[in-house]
Amino acid sequence: MRKYIKFSIALLVLATIVSCSDKRERQLQYMPDMYVAVPYEADAEKGNTGASSNMKPVAGTIARGNVPYEYADTNADYEKAKTDLKSPLVQDEANLEQGKKMYTIYCVSCHGKKGDGNGYLSQADKFAGIPSYKDRDITEGSIYHVIMYGKNLMGSHSSQLTNKERWQIVQYVGQLRNDLLK
Ligand code: HEC
Repeated sequence: MRKYIKFSIALLVLATIVSCSDKRERQLQYMPDMYVAVPYEADAEKGNTGASSNMKPVAGTIARGNVPYEYADTNADYEKAKTDLKSPLVQDEANLEQGKKMYTIYCVSCHGKKGDGNGYLSQADKFAGIPSYKDRDITEGSIYHVIMYGKNLMGSHSSQLTNKERWQIVQYVGQLRNDLLK
C-alpha cells in the first residue's frame, strides 16, 4: 500500500514538473483534437487542409445535381418564366407523391393542406397575406420561379430543395389549385 502511495506521489510530482515547466507554452495536450478541430477548422487562413467547408465555390461552377437557372429575380423574368418555363417531369403519381411530401415540409405551414392559404402560421395570425392558389393566375413556370426567388413576404426555398424536388412541388401545387377550382 505504501509503495502505491509513494508511487502516486512521485507521479504527481513528475506531472507537476512537466506541466508547469514553462507557463507561456501549452504543455502536453490530452486529446488534442478537442483543442484543434481538424476537419472543421473554420479559419481557412490558417492554411488548415480541412478548411474546405469555409471556402467559396469557384466562380461559374455549379454544385453537383443543380442546374443553372436562367431567369433573373425581376418582374420581367417572372412574366417570362410564367409563359415559357415548362416542367421537365412527367405528370405521374410518384412525382405527385414526392411533391406532396416536400410541400408538407416546406409550404404547408403557410399555404395550408389544401393550398387555400389557411396554414398554421396564417391561422395563428403570424403571417398575413397568404393567398389561396385558386386566386392567383399561376403556371408551372411561375410557381417554380417563386420557389427559386420567393415573392414579397415569402422567402426563397431554392436552397432547401433540389431541382427535381422543386418541380415535384410545382406539380403538386398545380393539382391543389385544380382541386380548389373545381
Ligand atoms: C412563411 C410563409 C410561406 C411559406 C413557408 C411559403 N409561402 Fe408561398 N407565399 C407566401 C405569401 C405571403 C405569398 C404572397 C406573396 C405575394 O404575392 O405578395 C405567397 C405566394 C405564393 C405563390 C403565388 C405567387 C404568385 O405568383 O402569385 C405561390 C405559387 C407560392 N407561394 C408557393 C409556395 C411554395 C411552393 C412553397 C413551399 C416551397 C411556399 N409557397 C412556401 C407565404 C409563404
